[in-house]
Amino acid sequence: MKKVIKNGTIVTATDTFQADIFIENGVISQIGENLAVRGAEVVDAKGCYVFPGGIDPHTHLEMPFGGTVTKDDFETGTIAAAFGGTTTIIDFCLTNKGEPLKDAINVWHAKSREKAVIDYGFHLMIGEVNESVLNELPSVIEEEGITSFKVFMAYKNVLQADDETLFNTLVAAKELGALVMVHAENGDVIDYLVKKALSEGNTEPIYHALTRPPEIEGEATARAATFTGLTNSQLYVVHVSCAEAAAKIAEARSKGIEVWGETCPQYLVLDQSYLEKPDFEGAKYVWSPPLREKWNQDVLWNALKTGQLQTVGSDQCSFDFKGQKDLGKGDFSKIPNGGPIIEDRMTILFSEGVMKGKISLNQFVDVTSTRIAKLFGLYPKKGTIAVGVDADIVIFDPTVERTISAETHHMAVDYSAFEGMKVTGEPVTVLSRGEFVIRDKQFVGKLGAGQYLKRAKYGKSYETVESKIVKM
Ligand code: URP
Ligand code: ZN
Ligand code: ZN
Ligand code: ZN
Repeated sequence: MKKVIKNGTIVTATDTFQADIFIENGVISQIGENLAVRGAEVVDAKGCYVFPGGIDPHTHLEMPFGGTVTKDDFETGTIAAAFGGTTTIIDFCLTNKGEPLKDAINVWHAKSREKAVIDYGFHLMIGEVNESVLNELPSVIEEEGITSFKVFMAYKNVLQADDETLFNTLVAAKELGALVMVHAENGDVIDYLVKKALSEGNTEPIYHALTRPPEIEGEATARAATFTGLTNSQLYVVHVSCAEAAAKIAEARSKGIEVWGETCPQYLVLDQSYLEKPDFEGAKYVWSPPLREKWNQDVLWNALKTGQLQTVGSDQCSFDFKGQKDLGKGDFSKIPNGGPIIEDRMTILFSEGVMKGKISLNQFVDVTSTRIAKLFGLYPKKGTIAVGVDADIVIFDPTVERTISAETHHMAVDYSAFEGMKVTGEPVTVLSRGEFVIRDKQFVGKLGAGQYLKRAKYGKSYETVESKIVKM
């Protein structure tokens, strides 16, 4: 039904202003002061910010990894995302060498179709480039609307691709109009350092960080950026964790190479010392790349502020502490990598970033939504508040103070990476295409209501919306 959001302060990546928003047929039909109600349901946003729904460009839901499967699936993961103010996710579809890409994509459709409560798209992992992959890629783009490819430079003997594969992927992406994403760490060097540590009897979680030094993240980032320059292609570096990698991205950008960088909340507020927590608790904080020395946090915040890094993803990849992270007791290399972040991404950015003066309110919207929509072919259907676009909207109370805890979060895992952290701000009501998903902090959405998003090619805007805007 029709809705009108009244009394809120609308915040986009560029503007902050008081206005009402009229919603009809799932899209924003009018923005203005004192809009007539015309039989619409009135949603009061007094004292709240009204943001475009968050877009999380980096999730791993129901993903087999590290000898187990991530705990949150497209049901719990998207519900938790919505509680946190995220209305769109782009999840990584893993592929298997020698198998058709289409088969992998169908597996991901089957995981998500009847579960997702918010809209979603897929990135596609490229593990090899050969005749059959090259033959399939045009239909991946044209038919599936998957316009971003992911290459892992780490996880040797599991997901890692070689330099030839990365180079060929960049060439193909340039030709076809896709964005290449990299997990930038030197997997071969890590493999050496891990084996050496274990042979010396160093098995504790902290060795996860010590065997993946920042230099090898910087090295892989620079290598991928160099290939991007040589192929005149486009690159998006996921989960940038440290000063070394951020500097390599800045250096490439200064040469005109089209490289974008994403960081994650965990790297902005947690540090390497968490891996030293007693009783194996350090395992909760095992990510790749690892948490870094604390001083890196300022570098990452400043990079977001000055635009050297452009986005914040969650890298949601959750495993229970008991029963999953456990797999690495006595051998840090067997701890499943990743953590539960999807629900807290927006709040941490708001509370630690905006409230502490590290980024502006409009930058907050840009790095958590607008820029992501632009890079991944969803803009302006997603990522902004404007007439003609999807009514994906978050009504956010910036005054609520609360404490993050696994007791109250909605992710399926048995711990929170931010347990006990005091934050300011919380989404109160969240709409996806004009329908309530969260209403007054209660989940009221429907399983399967989320739509699969076919995305536009890199650098192009979303065609459906272009045609919608023309008609209005
Ligand atoms: O530790 C991490 N980041 N786990 C998720 C997989 C990946 O590398 O993004
Ligand atoms: Zn309705
Ligand atoms: Zn990764
Ligand atoms: Zn990831």
